Amino acid sequence: MRGEIAVYESERVWRDVDDYFVETLVGEDEALVGARESGRGSSMPQAEVAPNQGRLLALLCGMVGARRVLEFGTLAGYSTVWLARAVGAEGRVTSLELEARNADIARGNLEKAGVAEWVDVVVGPAAESAWRLVEEGVEPYDFVFIDADKPSNPEYLKASLALTRVGSVIVIDNVVRNGAVVDDGSSDERVRGVRAVLDDIARDGRLEATALQTVGAKGWDGFAIVRRVR
Ligand code: DHB
Ligand code: MG
Repeated sequence: MRGEIAVYESERVWRDVDDYFVETLVGEDEALVGARESGRGSSMPQAEVAPNQGRLLALLCGMVGARRVLEFGTLAGYSTVWLARAVGAEGRVTSLELEARNADIARGNLEKAGVAEWVDVVVGPAAESAWRLVEEGVEPYDFVFIDADKPSNPEYLKASLALTRVGSVIVIDNVVRNGAVVDDGSSDERVRGVRAVLDDIARDGRLEATALQTVGAKGWDGFAIVRRVR
């Protein structure tokens, strides 16, 4: 069908443009390539962010002067490497991962990237791990990246609000899902999780937010970008 050919063609062009941007502006060293490739051995192959998206996360951390970063969903640690490099050895990254096997792969990648010393990968259901951090009374995080199971997004936001301060930034991955996000009757728990968290953000007077659609090597998806203003 004509329409399908057009979509196929555009996806190829999106990928080519991403490749061009990555070659031109971003680059990946051996550690990042290794982390990306080892993601294939994780429980969610190819779910990691694209290289230019990893750089976006790092740029945002730099822009807000982030020292403490919290990540929901480590997988093989690809975005974790970007975040850890962004905060540097004086910073701290806490990354929450359900699967022990993914966490082991990630720790190996963090070692190879030379950032393992200032990253904690915490194994277990991410919401439980996050609420434990709240109980421990940890210092607030400056930057949060929510990129784990989508049905739990509202719970991850709630915990993030207990773990941040005015000025902190929260980024949520995968808020478009090939456009599925506009289906208010969706039975897909992941879509419902995205819509629920966007509703919560919209209703929360402490938060300013937008969401952006992206196309590229990861297909058609997007980020919500949230700033805590009170
Ligand atoms: C899925 C999850 C992700 O975090 C992602 O970046 C891509 C896909 C998924 O659940 O399919
Ligand atoms: Mg994601």
